[in-house]
Amino acid sequence: MCLRLNDQVAIVTGGGEGLGSAVAERFALEGAKVVIADVNQKAARETVERIKAQGHDAVAIKTDISVEADVIALANQVREKYSRVDILHNNAGVLFHGKDAKAHELSADIWDTTMRVNARGMWLCTKYVLPLMMDHGGAIINLGSPTALNGTGAGLTAYSASKGAILGMTAVLANDYASYNIRVNCIIPGTMDTPMNKGFLTNLANQPKLLARIPLGRFGAGKDVAGLAVFLASSDSAYCTGGFYMADGGLMAF
Ligand SMILES: NC(=O)c1ccc[n+]([C@@H]2O[C@H](COP(=O)([O-])OP(=O)(O)OC[C@H]3O[C@@H](n4cnc5c(N)ncnc54)[C@H](O)[C@@H]3O)[C@@H](O)[C@H]2O)c1
Repeated sequence: MCLRLNDQVAIVTGGGEGLGSAVAERFALEGAKVVIADVNQKAARETVERIKAQGHDAVAIKTDISVEADVIALANQVREKYSRVDILHNNAGVLFHGKDAKAHELSADIWDTTMRVNARGMWLCTKYVLPLMMDHGGAIINLGSPTALNGTGAGLTAYSASKGAILGMTAVLANDYASYNIRVNCIIPGTMDTPMNKGFLTNLANQPKLLARIPLGRFGAGKDVAGLAVFLASSDSAYCTGGFYMADGGLMAF
């Protein structure tokens, strides 16, 4: 069998739960050695155990991506263990349902915390992992959101703004690192059934309105982004950089 990521070293931030966990498992299945960088060490270890139980290679490194010292320590540990990184899956993110709000109702605290993890954290991971890629090339995948592009983020000012930063970062990184053969792309999931949306999606009152906007008629799951992530991480996407790829059940086409 031809594995698409054979022997590549992949860091998956936020790989403990939700979309990141599914991507980490899929990367491992495709032959990658996976590093799970998550603030939730228990969840990260559980992902590692699932991967190892299938006979694949994974390690968990406790990391809060918004803390520079943590990200430096992550890069140092990966350098010591593997000497290189081929894939950075910039997935970790936060959304504070019930606290993120319309601009005039939003607290500075929620704005700062959201931007600190989603925008600053993604940049920090990129900053410290790039030197582990620059001599041989690689793939960076950032997780965006439709909330940066259309009205699906109504009432989510901080989250939508943070995801707008990620779209901009994807474009500038794609340009700045193309000469190093580092490709940078963005996955834009739709409304996904993950721990991030727990409570929000399970609230039956929210469901009809949300589902009515999704042409494929269901919420997404980790497996709905995992194949796309493998494509963007692998040489199958060798001519793709700076792109935004929807995995949203048609939400953006609605
Ligand atoms: N769920 C959706 O509907 C949806 C839609 C569009 C985009 N996204 C984006 O996809 C990504 C994954 O979303 P999800 O739904 O799987 O989220 P999730 O909340 O279900 O899982 C996020 C993971 O990231 C980890 N994490 C959170 N803050 C962290 C930090 N500071 N440092 C390290 N790890 C941290 C969590 O512990 C968790 O394991 C996020 O960037 C999110 O914004 C999600």
